[in-house]
Amino acid sequence: MTAQTQTHQSTLIAPGAGVAAPQGRPVPAEFVLGVATAAYQIEGARHEDGRTDSIWDTFSHTPGAVVDGDTGDVACEHYHRYAADVGLMKSLGIQSYRFSTSWGRICPDGGPVNAKGLDFYERLVDSLIDAGIAPWLTLYHWDLPQALEDRGGWTSRETVDRFVQYAGAVHDRLGDRVSTWTTLNEPFCAAFLGYTAGMHAPGRTSPADGLAAAHHLMLAHGRAVQELRARDSALELGLTLNFTVADPLDPSDPRDVDAARRVDAQMNRVFLDPIFRGAYPSDLLEDVRHLGLEDRIVDGDLDIISTPIDVLGVNYYNGEAIGHTRPASALADNLNGGRLTRSPFPAADESFRHPRGLPVTAMDWEIQPEGLTRLLVRLHEDYTGPAGVTLHVTENGAAFDDVADEDGFVEDGDRTAYVRAHIGAILDAVDAGVPVRGYFYWSLLDNFEWAWGYAKRFGIVRVDYDTQVRTPKASALDLARTIATRHLLPPVAPVPLVGTSGTDTLTEPVGDTQA
Ligand code: FCB
Repeated sequence: MTAQTQTHQSTLIAPGAGVAAPQGRPVPAEFVLGVATAAYQIEGARHEDGRTDSIWDTFSHTPGAVVDGDTGDVACEHYHRYAADVGLMKSLGIQSYRFSTSWGRICPDGGPVNAKGLDFYERLVDSLIDAGIAPWLTLYHWDLPQALEDRGGWTSRETVDRFVQYAGAVHDRLGDRVSTWTTLNEPFCAAFLGYTAGMHAPGRTSPADGLAAAHHLMLAHGRAVQELRARDSALELGLTLNFTVADPLDPSDPRDVDAARRVDAQMNRVFLDPIFRGAYPSDLLEDVRHLGLEDRIVDGDLDIISTPIDVLGVNYYNGEAIGHTRPASALADNLNGGRLTRSPFPAADESFRHPRGLPVTAMDWEIQPEGLTRLLVRLHEDYTGPAGVTLHVTENGAAFDDVADEDGFVEDGDRTAYVRAHIGAILDAVDAGVPVRGYFYWSLLDNFEWAWGYAKRFGIVRVDYDTQVRTPKASALDLARTIATRHLLPPVAPVPLVGTSGTDTLTEPVGDTQA
């Protein structure tokens, strides 16, 4: 940390100053405030200590797949800088760190265990614990070993068996130190962005493959939960899903209502229903009948998938207004790497996302905190509440076009306002009786943002990719202040705003503009 940022920090946090009562909205004492990352996005060290390639190594090295040809070969060098990164989190008062383990580091090519890969995560977890930061481990954040993809990847049931072996190997080493284990991060993206939309690795564009992948990811989740539960009934187990809030553009138009229903089914309920109700939604099965999903389901699969969990991780960035007609101007966030891709939804060809004139982030994602409150209430009422499952927001965050001063400091009032607004939206849900136990900001560091490469910065800590110097942004210091004071200040959006959806400030859309 530079001397400059030290100064900012001491000015803004003033921990223990104790002269005045903290301002703002109280944050419940037991509500955990943390940050999240994922292995491929930060670690680098592509072939060190036995790690072999994942589908993201292959994809990022495919010309045209990622903006500017960026790869995760080096990323934030977290593999070598983890100790300093943990120290940085400690200095900010971060309470919990959500990270993922790299399958190909621990089981190269998806095969036998590589002790050196586990050594790294053991060092990481031990330093977190030493720093008083609770580790939150995710087993799969999209980095399938390429060798398994070569044998069919998630469209093959064999991958499920391999995943359970890998989960067991991680537990063998870390089970005595990590109490919260999530199996998957965002199976929607892994299955439908990867196998149907072609936007993510492995870059396939098949609706049938996406559905097969989704089913096998669900099965891998259920089998891994069973395996871990059998080993230790005290573990807190679950998975993270990413959600949208699909509002019909015109609630009085049945065609818009149906278009929104399809998006809700194919993004939210496709995972929620098998996990919490032991069945795929009947309307989804009807919509995708021609795509072979039911041929993939073997007797007993849904019993496995609906194995009880303890915690649901909720990733929320924004909701959307869905109509049955094309919008006049579209949101441009599907311009991954300039590749023309198709809709991730297997059967929502008449569903289109319409800009609502809301402020947007640098991803062109509309900023809609109230959607998070509605989402959490719905999840609790319809799914998690009856199952006795608690909720954590495991990702929420914003990319903005940060401008660093000469010391590398970023005065990101836009991100600070975003974070405050979304934590406030969660506290609204808590006040309404929803058991949301924590919030993880995405992300600790600027990092490799998948098909956008390093072009989009989500971190509360700036990374200078030439020097690997980390500098906490104003938003990091504000989060640290919230944690230190247990009080949330109101969001104050900077003027002028970055941009607004549905205005001329938007990049012209290219390619598919479907939801
Ligand atoms: C989520 C991913 C995460 C990050 C954020 C911006 O979909 O889980 O890795 O890319 O989006």
